Amino acid sequence: MSEPIDNPGHWKGTRTFVVDRKEVESQTVTSFYLRPEDGGPMAAYKPGQFLTFQLNIPGLDKQVVRSYTLSDSPGGLEDGKLYRLSIKREPSPRGMPDVPPGASSNYFHDHVGVGSTLQVIAPTGDFFLADGDGPVVLLSGGVGLTPMISMLNHLVDQGAARPVWFVHGVQNGTEHAFGPHVRQLAETHASVRAHVVYVEPGPGDVKGRDFDDAGFITIEMLERIGAGLGADYYLCGPPPFMQALYTALRDWGVDDTRIFYEFFGPATVLKGAPGDIPANPAPHGTQAASGIEVTFKWAEVTVPWDGTSDTLLELAEAHGVDADFSCRSGVCHTCACTLMEGEIEYINDDVFEPDEADQVLICSAIPKTNIVLDS
Ligand SMILES: Cc1cc2nc3c(=O)[nH]c(=O)nc-3n(C[C@H](O)[C@H](O)[C@H](O)COP(=O)(O)OP(=O)(O)OC[C@H]3O[C@@H](n4cnc5c(N)ncnc54)[C@H](O)[C@@H]3O)c2cc1C
Ligand code: FES
Repeated sequence: MSEPIDNPGHWKGTRTFVVDRKEVESQTVTSFYLRPEDGGPMAAYKPGQFLTFQLNIPGLDKQVVRSYTLSDSPGGLEDGKLYRLSIKREPSPRGMPDVPPGASSNYFHDHVGVGSTLQVIAPTGDFFLADGDGPVVLLSGGVGLTPMISMLNHLVDQGAARPVWFVHGVQNGTEHAFGPHVRQLAETHASVRAHVVYVEPGPGDVKGRDFDDAGFITIEMLERIGAGLGADYYLCGPPPFMQALYTALRDWGVDDTRIFYEFFGPATVLKGAPGDIPANPAPHGTQAASGIEVTFKWAEVTVPWDGTSDTLLELAEAHGVDADFSCRSGVCHTCACTLMEGEIEYINDDVFEPDEADQVLICSAIPKTNIVLDS
């Protein structure tokens, strides 16, 4: 992964971190504060970037790899001596109680506590607050607020000179994380405006104190609170939120080049209707004796496709091959590689396929024949 060489705390591969603190932010979101076990310097990061975790969860035969955004400003916690993540517990899909709940998020909530150690891949990600002094609108849905909190806190740390609108949509007060923190920033900084929209306010939720509007975030709301066409727009939230707001912003007249976004979640979440989700997207049994070989040319590594990995990206990681990724779900194109020889197929229908025929998203692909990939 391309990281700045002037980042002294940066590490390659995984590093062990210890959970220093755990704090409940709402009924569904809990924050975890991490310090490096070796006591060495921390890698710097940009507001909006994330860490990736390799988890060995008891009862699961395969390592689980998940990314979580750093949810405070880079200099925020004890002068940058702790990392904070804020993780939403993912339940089983509605109406499908037999489907297991989210593996990683529930593991964090139920089994990771103060003193737990975690294997962590260094901060990365292309979704971060760009430098500048123009207005910024941070639009988030649900737990998509984590990069926005990092960006908001960073803007305040930098002197709060840049006008910023923090606009957040969430189900109701029970799921609302960081509410008092954001409100306090808005009350104490003239440049910070906050607007909170509850889909369906609960009986204890008070308009004007806990939330500002009910329903969904709309362009009419943005106009009303003064967020204009000249701002940079940052979006993060569940797929319907992203689809609706991205389209609405463009129809309103916001230039494409001013809209930055990040999808959270694996392909299962992006697929939409839970019923569409294949129980096992990569049928291991059929691949185990495939005899297929995969060459990662940039690393000069050739390995068998032997059924232990679900995707080419996982195969690369399992063999210590350095490969870029972000969303791991066929959306962001960070993992695109050149297919020099052979054929691949995608394991889900929602991959946003690259325009160039020889480009492959290795996070979502498996080989059909022997293949040679280059970076
Ligand atoms: C760049 C990035 C940053 C992120 N930042 C954050 C963050 O700051 N905070 C945060 O909370 N999350 C964040 N995420 C999302 C996070 O990485 C995980 O995707 C999320 O926690 C869910 O993982 P899980 O292992 O708990 O759930 P999974 O095990 O992946 O399951 C996801 C959902 O699918 C359901 N499911 C599983 N199997 C099936 C099946 N066979 N059929 C039907 N349904 C099924 C589960 O019940 C669950 O509801 C981020 C993701 C990315 C890519
Ligand atoms: S990592 Fe995002 S498309 Fe592959």
